Amino acid sequence: MRHENIRINRERLLRRLEEMGRIGALEGGGNSRLAFTEEDREARDLLVGWMRGAGLDVRIDRFGNITGTRAGLEDGPPVMTGSHIDTVATGGKYDGVLGVLAGLEALETMNDAGIETKRPVAVTSFSNEEGVRFQPDMMGSLVYQGGLPLDEAYAIVDRDGCSIGESLERIGYIGDAPVGGNAVHAFIELHIEQGPILEDEGSTIGAVEGVQGISWTEYTFAGRSAHAGTTPMARRHDAGYVAAAVAAYVRRLAEEVGRGQVTTVGVFEVEPNLVNVVPERARITADIRNFDNGLLKDAEDKLNAFVTRTADEEGVAVERRTLARFDPTSFAPALVEKIGNAAERLGYSTRRIASGAGHDAQIMARICPTAMIFVPSVGGISHNIEEYTSDEDCEAGANVMLHALLDLAE
Ligand code: GLV
Ligand code: MN
Ligand code: MN
Repeated sequence: MRHENIRINRERLLRRLEEMGRIGALEGGGNSRLAFTEEDREARDLLVGWMRGAGLDVRIDRFGNITGTRAGLEDGPPVMTGSHIDTVATGGKYDGVLGVLAGLEALETMNDAGIETKRPVAVTSFSNEEGVRFQPDMMGSLVYQGGLPLDEAYAIVDRDGCSIGESLERIGYIGDAPVGGNAVHAFIELHIEQGPILEDEGSTIGAVEGVQGISWTEYTFAGRSAHAGTTPMARRHDAGYVAAAVAAYVRRLAEEVGRGQVTTVGVFEVEPNLVNVVPERARITADIRNFDNGLLKDAEDKLNAFVTRTADEEGVAVERRTLARFDPTSFAPALVEKIGNAAERLGYSTRRIASGAGHDAQIMARICPTAMIFVPSVGGISHNIEEYTSDEDCEAGANVMLHALLDLAE
């Protein structure tokens, strides 16, 4: 193996993580950088500056995906890495950001060492991975891959009716480059695990074999507001009650389906939200995930049947909207193997692992051989301002990425 002794510049990587973490910083730690907001723009500007400073060829596409490319000795499909710099509204400073900054770090390390690779190597920051403000999640990679047409993506609106097209325009990130359309040799994404497995088992590097399927549905219930004291129970059309019953069922569903099923109601709103008024309207979301698509479909069917029955019994109308639906994804075994081997060569403990969270890599897997590298999350905590991954583990993940990229770029 050539370049066996090369390592990333840990101080530079950590300094940049710190600096990025100041944009949209929250009291008590963590970040809020929702997609296509001012905070997102600021983070993009910082990243683009670093990419240009590293001498990369920086291109911004029509959906705001930012790619920095380091030329190879030959033209042709690049080896790509990347992730995202948007966050949930209560996010940590590692989710997504580590992958983008470690990719940049790997390319700069190649510069510093004067390494020439056969293939170009590129790092991308995909737009709107989190899907909190605009659904679905993994949207930048989805548009890049061709799974969502650009004009349809522009037309998606947030809760205030503001469209992605307008928002992207406002932050100045509708670039000139076409979105996707070029061949990619391979894609590798470094990410924090966001769960407890690596930490519990004392492993530093997870070679990720796949990602579970994701199903997001929004349910809006319409009943009739009424006086809480005078309306007999049998004459109510209580949207809040139906929402609460469904939310409780979503939780039970995980047990009912079992075998790795996870379920969450993350949004719960009632109107008019007053102590003595029967709720007229309610809106909830269900996030249900499973590694087995058959089981996931089974869970979706069970939930829909429960929703219909409960709403009917209460005389409440229901409107369903699919916000996201991704099948489970398997990564390329040869790449998973390369990541495991690179970790071993570098002396890091490693194990195979599966991803509970969604990632841009699962979309990229549709167009090229893809795999991921995980590093531990302390306490398994993520989508929380307390999210933390140690400096040593960030460094380890970046080193494994560097070596996997070099291997693939030869
Ligand atoms: C993306 O962060 C997800 O919801 O898994
Ligand atoms: Mn992420
Ligand atoms: Mn996330």
